[in-house]
Amino acid sequence: MMFIRSKLIGFGHCLPAKILTNDDLSHMVETSDEWIRSRTGIRSRHIAETETTSVIAGQAVSNAIKDAGLKPEDIDLLILASITPDNTTPSTAVKIAGNLGFRSGVPAFDISAACSGFVYALTLADNMIRLGQVKTAVIAGAECLSKIVDWQDRNTCVLFGDGAGAVVLQAEAGTGKSSDRGVLSTHIYADGALYDCLKTTGGVSSTQSPGVVTMDGKEVFKHAVVSLAEAAEVVLQEAGLSKSNIDWLIPHQANVRIVDSVRQRLEIPEDKVIITLDHHGNTSAASIPLALSESHQKGLFKDGDVLVLTAMGAGFTWGGAVIRL
Ligand code: UT7
Repeated sequence: MMFIRSKLIGFGHCLPAKILTNDDLSHMVETSDEWIRSRTGIRSRHIAETETTSVIAGQAVSNAIKDAGLKPEDIDLLILASITPDNTTPSTAVKIAGNLGFRSGVPAFDISAACSGFVYALTLADNMIRLGQVKTAVIAGAECLSKIVDWQDRNTCVLFGDGAGAVVLQAEAGTGKSSDRGVLSTHIYADGALYDCLKTTGGVSSTQSPGVVTMDGKEVFKHAVVSLAEAAEVVLQEAGLSKSNIDWLIPHQANVRIVDSVRQRLEIPEDKVIITLDHHGNTSAASIPLALSESHQKGLFKDGDVLVLTAMGAGFTWGGAVIRL
């Protein structure tokens, strides 16, 4: 029996031009570079001024398609993970497909799973590829979180940033073994009992406005450490691999203290953990694909490397994936 794997063949990202530093923030709310750096690890973040989600996501998708050596007409599926769409409807994915010139009829849609969105998108695309429904898919995570941040709330406004990342996946024959290249396992979760811990104050059907982000930081922190580590352990086991096989851990980039606790639970050295939150902040669904694309561009990855992705966010939602490059 032929076994199909989704191989990662292209990476791309895009960041808005404006950079907002911690010092800039200290003139906007009562905070300091020292507090933000020591409590979160964040030094700066990009902020969309004229750019919208479709603009940065479109650029990331286009860069990923080029990196894969393909053209927009080669793509069979586009999934965009985002909680900050250009319009309530149609989806931002459809807008990107139109702007880039994807073939008519190619499915394109957004998914909303907050910071776990990219892992959710990866799971869906991988399943569709393995079922033989599509051959080549682009998945992206993109956010303009600056548009739903309360710029007077120091508890949240220092944490978030804007950006976009994308990956091209393509069907390739495998053996079903953990030595295959491609996505080896995915697992996604949600628990709606924790809905209120991290949310916006409004939405279309409730307040007719998107609202602003509110968060019980301590509660989210506590769950994040456990969920991120557990998701990584589950997907490793499902892939038939163990912690010692990890070449790169790519966790959701929310707080360096969370990442470090997860790293310690997984017993892996610091130099195997990708950190981009220092210059991106928390970009929700964009954080993992941004980290993937930047690392690829820096030449950190080599063929055969085992990547473990793990994410957690509002919902709560969480999940992980193991990929062999
Ligand atoms: O993307 C989804 C996942 N999201 C996350 O994983 C975020 C998880 N949570 C966190 O990263 C952390 O909880 C925070 C970074 C949000 C907060 O760190 P903390 O160590 O939990 O700080 P805290 O909430 O205990 O706040 C400590 C103090 C408070 O003052 P009091 O009440 O002790 O007097 C805050 O008012 O720090 C104060 N504070 C600030 N001070 C300066 C809160 N924000 C700021 C700020 N600047 N920006």
